[in-house]
Amino acid sequence: MDFVEHLKASVDIVKVIGEYVRLKRSGPRWMGLCPFHTEKTGSFSVHATHQFYYCFGCQAKGDVIKFVMEIERLSFYEALKLLAERHGIPLPKRSDYSDPETKLRAGIFEMHELAARMFRNALASSAGADARGYISKRGLAAAEIEEFGLGFAERSGQFLARRFQQDGFTAEQMEASGLVLKRQDGSGFYDRFRGRLMFPIQNESGKIIAFAGRALAAEEEPKYLNSPETSIYRKSTVLYNLHRAKEGIRKNDRAVLVEGYMDVIGVYSAGIREVVASCGTALTSAQVRSLKRHSGNIVVNFDPDAAGANAAERSIQILLDEDLRIRILELETGLDPDEYVKQRGAEEYRKRLDAAGSYFHWLADRARSRHGATVEGQMAALKELLPAIHRMSDKIERAAVAEDVAHYLAIDRGIVLDQFRKAALDRRERGAPEPAPTSVPPMEKILLNCILRSPEIQTGVLARLQALGAAERFATRAVFAVLLQLSESGQKIGFSELDARLSEEERTLLLAAVLADEGSEGTDCRKQAEWCLEKLESAGREALRAEVRTRLREAERAGDFAEALRLAGELNRMDSGAPR
Ligand code: CTP
Ligand code: MN
Repeated sequence: MDFVEHLKASVDIVKVIGEYVRLKRSGPRWMGLCPFHTEKTGSFSVHATHQFYYCFGCQAKGDVIKFVMEIERLSFYEALKLLAERHGIPLPKRSDYSDPETKLRAGIFEMHELAARMFRNALASSAGADARGYISKRGLAAAEIEEFGLGFAERSGQFLARRFQQDGFTAEQMEASGLVLKRQDGSGFYDRFRGRLMFPIQNESGKIIAFAGRALAAEEEPKYLNSPETSIYRKSTVLYNLHRAKEGIRKNDRAVLVEGYMDVIGVYSAGIREVVASCGTALTSAQVRSLKRHSGNIVVNFDPDAAGANAAERSIQILLDEDLRIRILELETGLDPDEYVKQRGAEEYRKRLDAAGSYFHWLADRARSRHGATVEGQMAALKELLPAIHRMSDKIERAAVAEDVAHYLAIDRGIVLDQFRKAALDRRERGAPEPAPTSVPPMEKILLNCILRSPEIQTGVLARLQALGAAERFATRAVFAVLLQLSESGQKIGFSELDARLSEEERTLLLAAVLADEGSEGTDCRKQAEWCLEKLESAGREALRAEVRTRLREAERAGDFAEALRLAGELNRMDSGAPR
């Protein structure tokens, strides 16, 4: 067997996709929210038997390798490698899978692994004494240093550069890695990170793709120096700690979003496993979507200063656009999450998280403190809140929030609802309506699924269909034509054999048919197919009878009585030969 097929046969697509998307079982397929477009009700399905996914909303589809390529933004070979490594399947040493871009990226991944190792060793060495001093001042325990892979970048500027050269990495790879910089005079490379405490940044599958380096001295600028964008690091799509947090996010059905690297480490180590941070950038919808794959609930806990509050307010807009349920935790004591956990303890912090209020109360408080408690102030506050409320796409939820805000701001609810209606008139539903799934007539659906599910009836059923000529009138005739070809040439008939021989359009039909399969375990395919064939046969006989009757009437009208008599006899034979 070809390696790709071997791999596909050894991994379970439901399990692989289930790591990225929450799936619920529904017959032989699993359903969830599509990770490739924004939606409120799940149109994304994964088929366990035939090992593919399909979204009725955006038509994204493919096998397990395609999924990993899309979700992790990997090349074909990288996706193979990731799946093989994760499932302990040895990858053949063959380079014919990889293109130059993939090879370059492989080099960059390797350089990051190597760099992380060197940073860790340096932290433990004598060169790392200052950094260790700083770490212990910040209250980090050895277990946390280990878990988060913290390290130290030496000051020489030749620490990584020299090693990369020794290990034979090319100038192209070095430049593309973002870890070292080219000297102005072209005489080689020097390290980007020097004399800093290093935080590795991983992608969702746990591979190191970038670093953040914190200055050790208070006056040193910038406080954090981050990796630049490279071919393996796109800032806007990465959330710090997501690969560790995603299990916790699912288990607790919420994510906790904080601002800083140190906040993540402090909060995570206090046992709140569902914590992530955006990496020194404003929150993006790509980041929100990757959270939403694991939970629809989020608690935003930014620093209790003006910058943090403004960032939280901006994040709310983006989170609402992706339909997340948002709560805000503002720690009143002026401590950021990391400091709060250290000073007040994990239990106290957890209590505060659990008690965090809905975002609009927080917004209302802010608006109120800006506008004062007069009637005019309340109205001004309401006006400020309206846009955020209007971003909620769920009508019922929106109305409930409107009521609640009216109550909270002590404004007559009639006025609030009125404001709402006005704004609602301007509001156009966001996003295109989801196209209806391609429909396949029930009879064809049943036959197709029976044939695919039970090899032992394939030859018989297909032979009878061919004799009947019935499949020529099917909406899925192209699919059946391939089935008949496969059967005639005695080849194996399965979903992937069929899929491989179809055009894009025909494939969509096949997918629609297979996904509509209720497939209850106990169904007798032979019986079902028999039922279909009998229906088709009797429909065929009925069509034939109708045709003879038409010809009989025509012969009578034309005065050709000999022909009329013959046709009447034929009709008689048909009726007695095959009683309905
Ligand atoms: N940040 C950054 N670049 C900077 C400053 C900040 O990328 N020059 C990002 C980092 O992700 C940082 C976060 O913004 O963790 C929050 O910044 P700040 O509150 O200033 O830092 P802290 O996380 O509090 O860091 P520390 O606790 O080490 O002071
Ligand atoms: Mn901070």
